[in-house]
Amino acid sequence: MPRLKVDSDALPPAVIEAIKKGKINLDDPTVTRLLIKLKAVLGVVGFFNQDGTLRSVGLTCAVCHSTVDNSIAPSIGRRIDGLANHDLNVGAIAASAPNLQPVVDLLRLADPGITAAQVRAVLNSWGPGKFDAELFLDGKAFNPEQVTNGVVTGRNVPGATLIPNARGLAGHNLHTWTGGWGTVSYWNAFVAVDELHGKGTFFDERFDNPAQFPIAAKAKLGHVSIDDPDSDRVTSKLGALQFYQLALPALKPRPGIDFDPDAAERGDELFSGKANCNSCHREPLWTEPGWNQHTPAEMKIDGFEARRAPASIDAQGRAAHGYRTMNLAGVFVRERGLFMLPQDKGSFYHDGRFKTLLDVVNSYDARFNLTLSNQEKHDLVEYLKSL
Ligand code: HEC
Ligand code: HEC
Repeated sequence: MPRLKVDSDALPPAVIEAIKKGKINLDDPTVTRLLIKLKAVLGVVGFFNQDGTLRSVGLTCAVCHSTVDNSIAPSIGRRIDGLANHDLNVGAIAASAPNLQPVVDLLRLADPGITAAQVRAVLNSWGPGKFDAELFLDGKAFNPEQVTNGVVTGRNVPGATLIPNARGLAGHNLHTWTGGWGTVSYWNAFVAVDELHGKGTFFDERFDNPAQFPIAAKAKLGHVSIDDPDSDRVTSKLGALQFYQLALPALKPRPGIDFDPDAAERGDELFSGKANCNSCHREPLWTEPGWNQHTPAEMKIDGFEARRAPASIDAQGRAAHGYRTMNLAGVFVRERGLFMLPQDKGSFYHDGRFKTLLDVVNSYDARFNLTLSNQEKHDLVEYLKSL
């Protein structure tokens, strides 16, 4: 099971030895069941019958938002909370469920004709490291036109977004890729109750807008309430969860290994100088202190994902959607492909439209007429890898 991650701290020494010697077949479902029983599979909680057989499983945040350092074997090691599992193919796992009817029923609130086969195709379109949290609110599975700098760069692109690196977030105001939802604590309650179906309470009147959220409005997903406070398993945990998340610092890159320090020093000058990145990604927070969101027009990209989140109000009092100035601390992990399969490395921006940091820099150079030389672009990339 190469795409789920195994926490070596939960394994008895004998099992670790056997794994190191290659004596355990990790593709064998019996082994998977054993590992779940040991609570070693990140984010997967098993419920077992008296006779030891597995009755059901539940998922926690860690299935997407934690990974391991591979210190024992590929995908097996010490856990690193907050770092995304970019190997995990959430859509493929969901698509393999024997009964998709609950998902079909939900999506039919937006599209009455949708079939299980179509839902399966949507789930399979996501690919590793991505998930579409908004699909279950608006039913919008594909971005009809991905546009970068006035050029159509893709059609019918899956609406799934990259699982973000949830470390180094303290001090950020708006969260998620669009910033349109709210804070870490807002999103935690939403995911725990509306996505992972934990027993809890979630309130958001903005979901009652049937034009933007045809599913959420009909299913009343903004009004989920547990009448007996003692049965609410989520609300009492929101405080501690938020503290923990905000206490996770970004991983630190190693000079000379993860980046070239001399080039990074030159890139630092460019970042706050000629390339003007610091105007939005404000050092050392890497986002704006305050309202950290920009319109699609400002970013010169399409507004598909931005429009899926609730609007804020612009200076003229009109509804405005945007993208959050994304955190850059620890971005080297994705560029270098650390703690992930080689094929899953890279991917930047909410929909992963840029494969490498150089692609990102080339695009900024074109979008904002920065006239960076090849050497300057290289130096800027080395600087980004040093954050
Ligand atoms: C199936 C994979 C998956 C699971 C499970 C999951 N998340 Fe996420 N998480 C994502 C994705 C994808 C995003 C980006 C959402 C967006 O902006 O569209 C995200 C974003 C976030 C963010 C915003 C981070 C930032 O950079 O601002 C927080 C906080 C978060 N999730 C917390 C949680 C919590 C708490 C849980 C468990 C209750 C959870 N997530 C479960 C996939 C997941
Ligand atoms: C006008 C504000 C603005 C400026 C200027 C800006 N950025 Fe960004 N940056 C953003 C926003 C907003 C996003 C998120 C875009 C998205 O999700 O689609 C982002 C995303 C990124 C990402 C991807 C982060 C990730 O996790 O995938 C990188 C890397 C980045 N910017 C680097 C730079 C560099 C380098 C410069 C200067 C050449 C720069 N930015 C200038 C606002 C800005």
